[in-house]
Amino acid sequence: MSNWNHKHIIDLASFSLEDYRTVLDLTNRFKIIPISGSRKLPALQGKLIATLFFEPSTRTRSSFELAAKRLSADVQSFSPSSSSLKKGESPLDTVMTYVAMGADVLVIRHNCSGIAEQIAKSLDENLKHVSILNGGDGLHSHPSQALLDLFTLAQFFDKENPNIKNLAGKKITIIGDILHSRVARSNLWGLTACGADVVLCGPPTLLPEQFSEFVSNPPPGIIQDPIKNRGKVSISRSLKEAMEDSDAIYTLRIQKERMSENLISSLDRYHEEYGITHESLKWCKENVPVLHPGPVNRGIEISSELVDDHSICLVDTQVTNGIPVRMALLYLLASMKN
Ligand code: NCD
Repeated sequence: MSNWNHKHIIDLASFSLEDYRTVLDLTNRFKIIPISGSRKLPALQGKLIATLFFEPSTRTRSSFELAAKRLSADVQSFSPSSSSLKKGESPLDTVMTYVAMGADVLVIRHNCSGIAEQIAKSLDENLKHVSILNGGDGLHSHPSQALLDLFTLAQFFDKENPNIKNLAGKKITIIGDILHSRVARSNLWGLTACGADVVLCGPPTLLPEQFSEFVSNPPPGIIQDPIKNRGKVSISRSLKEAMEDSDAIYTLRIQKERMSENLISSLDRYHEEYGITHESLKWCKENVPVLHPGPVNRGIEISSELVDDHSICLVDTQVTNGIPVRMALLYLLASMKN
């Protein structure tokens, strides 16, 4: 924890192995402490966490707010539909309003890729000691989701010791609308950093060939990849081939609200070709888990029966793990003022 040097958490491309270890260790510690009602941890007493969600959210926002409350922070949330955004105020001026109220960490979700980084830079230029935690920006990044996915997988592979080592050498298959998924992008950084090989599967309109190079090109600002040996990324157009020998399946929603044109001919056809069902899981090894970030569109990317089969589908476990992961992230940012 002493080596933690991120003032903001914008994406995972800049995370070192030590950073992943720190987050997972802390998550595990928060997870095993029974916290509820008045038995909260005093760690962030007196801190203000503001959740500014300019885009809809059920899980991420509630989970950040619960995480903050369990660490005894004050929490201020914001609702775009009843805010001064309606009167023409910009997102940055909205952010500055919460900074002026004394926020220590701002959790921001917005449909514009790159906005979290822009806001963080603007705060740094103005010497504001406020941290930005990206709750999902456009198609770009969703770090807290990928970290809770890593924790969920690490825990699935070894319940007693949910460590990043558990991911090394595993084959993880991500299926569906990769192009519009900030979750897939953040998982690509996280999983390959921990030594997992990732197979991407989907139709060419939702999974362009360039994705096989995704982690070979660190984003601007990162001169050298902090990870020496990443796992491999490959693309398969056949669901059967992508699922064979896989250790875990990660399926994604068709994110229509992020598409500018219709990229699939029919949802029924998509389900036939790429939908995950008990039947298609027969191609995998035995007892392979299925993850999904939610919200789920039953009968499209995954069958309704499979969503309800909690022995295989870990979607509820992911939501549960989201709270201690976000406690860890808020703790790291708010308790260590940069
Ligand atoms: C994801 C998101 O918002 O990017 N959901 C989430 O945060 N749990 C995935 C999605 O919207 O499909």
